[in-house]
Amino acid sequence: MRVVIMAGGSGSRLWPSSRGLYPKQFLSLCGENTMLQTTLQRIKGLNVDGLSVICNEEHRFIVAQQSHEIGQGPDAIILEPVGRNTAPAIALAAMEALETDPNATLLIMAADHLIEDVPAFHEAVAKAEALAQQGKLVTFGIVPESAHTGYGYIQRGTAQGEGFVVSRFVEKPDAQTAQTYLDEGEYYWNSGMFLFSARLYLDELKNYRPDIYSACEAAYSGKTRDADFIRLDVDAFKACPDDSIDYAVMEKTDKAVVVPLAAGWSDVGSWSSLWEVGEGDAEGNVCSGDVINHGTTDTYIRAEHRLVATVGLKDVVVVETADAVLVADKNQVQDVKAIVNQLKAEG
Ligand code: GDD
Ligand code: MG
Repeated sequence: MRVVIMAGGSGSRLWPSSRGLYPKQFLSLCGENTMLQTTLQRIKGLNVDGLSVICNEEHRFIVAQQSHEIGQGPDAIILEPVGRNTAPAIALAAMEALETDPNATLLIMAADHLIEDVPAFHEAVAKAEALAQQGKLVTFGIVPESAHTGYGYIQRGTAQGEGFVVSRFVEKPDAQTAQTYLDEGEYYWNSGMFLFSARLYLDELKNYRPDIYSACEAAYSGKTRDADFIRLDVDAFKACPDDSIDYAVMEKTDKAVVVPLAAGWSDVGSWSSLWEVGEGDAEGNVCSGDVINHGTTDTYIRAEHRLVATVGLKDVVVVETADAVLVADKNQVQDVKAIVNQLKAEG
């Protein structure tokens, strides 16, 4: 099995720590290691015969340095000149894998997830591998906790091996629809990790999105190699439509199965999720850096450069960095993205 780590996202909801040049997957948000390093460590103990990371060109040295720092250098770092989302990224990784192994099986992982129980994750991967060998596209399903609209929803059908047939896959439904799925109780959240044969993924992509498939084929056939780095034909990749694997393939295929994953998964999408997964003090505050609180409760505080002192806050997020400070209602931190868009618009 070959592991592919997708590390090309922008992580804009974690501004001001996460920036264009240094997005969240390359930051230490919980503990000492960065999210990419924690992801690399999570695959130790799996039966892995190759590792690729796919990311933006401008992050190549960060990826190389962070992976070598922990002694897990990838054998290929595929560099995208622009982001075209996960359907093309995975297609390129599949094409690269097929060059050395025509039967390659891929475990696709995101570089920005947390998983507390690694042995449980490894067990789920073993179940998924068995299903992938039977010609399935496997997703990992998380028992949903809320009607979150940032996730894909997977309806469980009949049992298949140690998983279930996917009777429906709906990417990012609106809040009302998500609530009905939650009430029905047969749905999982899509974890955003997948396991399948590289060939099958490309066949399904070709079937449902021939435009993406052929753009990736053109971009990959014009590639150049420079040590571990693989660069694509820039113009061909720029011409590729932008879409995620979820919309492009998973919503459409009839070969999807889901393996439940109960391993303390979190995608650390926003500051409130860091508060949820962090170790709180007696007042429910999760703090990192130089912080003093008085009468503050259920608050997330991250001090990167200076002392941060708070008095009497409740359900707030405070993030201090060298050049920007965020103060937000903990229940509205999804909207931090709006600030980033505003900053971009102002140049
Ligand atoms: N190389 C590369 N290129 N990686 C990318 C790109 C890209 O253009 N775009 C995103 N990624 C990486 C991100 O860094 C992240 O690790 C992963 O791919 C998923 O992308 P997100 O942008 O974070 O997706 P999402 O969170 O909106 O939705 C996905 O994950 C959810 C779970 O966290 C979907 O798969 C949902 O269905 C799922 O519920
Ligand atoms: Mg995500």
